[in-house]
Amino acid sequence: MAETPTYDVVIIGGGPGGYNGAIRAGQLGLKVACVDKGVEGGIGLGGTCLNVGCMPSKAMLHASELFDAANSEFATLGIEVTPKLNLAQMMKQKTDSVTQLTKGIEFLFKKNKVDRYQGVGAIAGPGKVTVTAADGAVTTLAAKDIVIATGSLPSGLPGVEVDQKRIVDSTGALSLPEVPGHLVVIGAGIIGLELGSVWRRLGAKVTVIEFLDRITPGMDAEVAKTFQRALTKQGMAFKLGAKVTGAKTSKTGVTLTFEPVAGGAAETIDADCVLLAIGRRPYTEGLGLETVGITPDKRGFIETDHWKTSAPGVWAIGDVTHGPMLAHKAEEEAVACIEAIAGKAGHVSYGLIPSVVYTSPEVAWVGKTEEELKAEGRAYKVGKFPFTANSRAKINHETEGFAKVLADAKTDEILGAHLIGPSVSEMIGEYAVAMEFRAASEDVARTCHPHPTRSEALRQAAMGVEGWTMQA
Ligand code: NAI
Repeated sequence: MAETPTYDVVIIGGGPGGYNGAIRAGQLGLKVACVDKGVEGGIGLGGTCLNVGCMPSKAMLHASELFDAANSEFATLGIEVTPKLNLAQMMKQKTDSVTQLTKGIEFLFKKNKVDRYQGVGAIAGPGKVTVTAADGAVTTLAAKDIVIATGSLPSGLPGVEVDQKRIVDSTGALSLPEVPGHLVVIGAGIIGLELGSVWRRLGAKVTVIEFLDRITPGMDAEVAKTFQRALTKQGMAFKLGAKVTGAKTSKTGVTLTFEPVAGGAAETIDADCVLLAIGRRPYTEGLGLETVGITPDKRGFIETDHWKTSAPGVWAIGDVTHGPMLAHKAEEEAVACIEAIAGKAGHVSYGLIPSVVYTSPEVAWVGKTEEELKAEGRAYKVGKFPFTANSRAKINHETEGFAKVLADAKTDEILGAHLIGPSVSEMIGEYAVAMEFRAASEDVARTCHPHPTRSEALRQAAMGVEGWTMQA
């Protein structure tokens, strides 16, 4: 019988948590294996993010934004074109990019001496992981430490059965064969608004049905209001405070039934396609958690303390654990968890994980919202600067939105930064760094920023905390 391959660390899952953990383990000289079965509809390593999440959605957001601009903004710039959509090519460039990125991870695995096992990974008792390949062959691995990084799956809604044709989840919505006449999105969260934006720009009528009386829970309320106004102006329709109670699918479309959350008569809405985007749930089915005595909580999350589970030698990171279901959160935890396994400190600044919505305008924030600070009873000051007053944004005709900085009323420490506007996804890192160093708003206000850039809005907002914004 073949000898059992033995590792310092076996990581189950090859998404942003798993693959970054594997690379870091390799860097630290640990003998490491990463077990990944591939996600449904995916191409290779990289998990949901790379195959059917962050990356393909950004490919579609980028391409559709240019298409939209060619339709609506180019003429203002003196460029007259009549763009024609080639959806097949748009999908192909998305798939090509994803393929290259998955190959990039394979390369990084080789470079860092990570052994990759393709198949379904499961824990089979302390220090033991089985890998079941597509042909049913089972390989057993021995490991001093096991890291669970199996991620999450889209949440279902009773009465609304996803068939990936008429009713799709985020995976199906990334590969629709044609632009739907009317796309109805259930859930005004990040997925619903990003993918709703993609198909609106490509020509669909888009209606979003949201349970709460606001969009994007978790986002600063003032920003969310401005955001909803911007999306409405673009043609997206919202039905807030409404819950979907059923769906009837026919050959040509779907009829959804929904009713006011506050009570009242039910209504129906006809759609060519429905996107169900009401959140995600941890993916732990078939993982063999019971073999090491781990019981997930009621919502399916694995409880951890500094990435350690209740079972000795078993760790968990990313979407299967509590906290925001974000690739960069999983990556942070991966590095910290592996460093802890290697006997180093391992640290994650949970209060400083940025959030981004990659629509147009983009929304990005880090730290506390005004609502959170009010709930804590913390005295804070606000500095705000509109992009209408930023010269670069003005020149580029992208003046929608603002930068808002929240700082402690006494110490001036920055407590939150909230940006809505052009390319803010690329700018929020400035505040994340400043806040990691526990900077005061004055530190940003007195830091020279290049002119003319949109980043000057961030500085002007920081100046506003002490009331000396100069350009508005
Ligand atoms: P989400 O949690 O962001 O939003 C779901 C929305 O659906 C909420 O507004 C919720 O109130 C609403 N909802 C829940 N049940 C409903 C119902 N029955 N009827 C109507 N509305 C209902 O979830 P989403 O958008 O599915 O995203 C899943 C995860 O993926 C999130 O954690 C998100 O942060 C992450 N993600 C992050 C991205 C990014 O960082 N740019 C991109 C895509 C996803």
